[in-house]
Amino acid sequence: MAEFLTLGIETSCDETSVAVVADGRKIKSNLIASQLDLHTKFGGVVPELAARCHLETMLPVYRKALAEAGVELEAIDLIAVTQGPGLIGSLLVGISFAKGLALAGNIPLVGVNHIEGHIYANILERPELEPPLLCLTVSGGHTDLVYMKDWGRYQLLGSTRDDAAGEAFDKVARVLGLEYPGGPAIDRIAKGAGDDLQFMQSKAMAGSYDFSFSGLKTAVINYLNRLKQKGETVDIPLVAASFQRTVVEQLTDKLFRAAREYPANALLLSGGVSANSYLREYCRREADRLGMKLYYPPLALCTDNAAMIAAAGYYVYRSSGASGLDLTAQPDLKLAVVEN
Ligand code: KG4
Ligand code: ZN
Repeated sequence: MAEFLTLGIETSCDETSVAVVADGRKIKSNLIASQLDLHTKFGGVVPELAARCHLETMLPVYRKALAEAGVELEAIDLIAVTQGPGLIGSLLVGISFAKGLALAGNIPLVGVNHIEGHIYANILERPELEPPLLCLTVSGGHTDLVYMKDWGRYQLLGSTRDDAAGEAFDKVARVLGLEYPGGPAIDRIAKGAGDDLQFMQSKAMAGSYDFSFSGLKTAVINYLNRLKQKGETVDIPLVAASFQRTVVEQLTDKLFRAAREYPANALLLSGGVSANSYLREYCRREADRLGMKLYYPPLALCTDNAAMIAAAGYYVYRSSGASGLDLTAQPDLKLAVVEN
């Protein structure tokens, strides 16, 4: 049988990405043009610049993605585009482009939730993965613990009450004078460093699956101010490693507690922060100890990419059909959850 080809388009933040995925799981191409250089000097993503840059990059990245997959637009069966959450201007570039292609090629179009995309990054190239699955999605904008009962059926067990995990990494890195994005910088500098700064205790809300990171961030800022007032030097690797340990303790405490309560074929990590080496190693050790299966995407699929959007879009299309051409950007789009 001929392969079913999905063209994925992702422009929710600062990556312009286009991918071709066969049968929802096989990556034919996954082109990612990062705007990192554009935003680094501002210490964060500048929405207006991001949207303009997507507009310039979209067409060449699309052409390369088709060429690398060895197909023409006529061979594409479905177009999947990130609908939200994300930056409105950036989302609109991807959505407008996707609509143009859908109209020109008379191809069905489906809007995809970006967080759902991160979860599906795990099923790419892994035909053995089937729900129920328990997924921790940790990115720059989200910290969600999700029980995926079936394809497209989610129960949101907990999410952050304030900062997202990646946001906390980025903000703490900034006060430590590390480069943007802060997650990889903290991960690097923490390697081999002591991580036992006493004031950093995980004060995760007991009994809840919700997360909170802003208190920890404030504790780090206050600590640095106290040292500065006393004229003492900061041991940056020690602070970074202690912060990282505390964040990972909170994340894994809830993940493994949920794993005892919700029967799952496997535990999944996803989102940019799932690239964190300490988080991966900790989860691997704990999952092995408990005899549970654990998956996380390869590094290139942890951060924003269009292959994950194509994978999620394939399953959304199979269960709910196409979106209309009135599809529009939803910067605050939530995961559609079911209670039972
Ligand atoms: O998923 P993503 O690419 O974009 C969003 O949808 O937000 O995630 C980006 C976030 C940033 O906050 C970045 O600092 C964090 O992921 N990140 C990491 C690592 N690599 C990326 N955080 C901790 N450790 C890492 N190795
Ligand atoms: Zn993301």
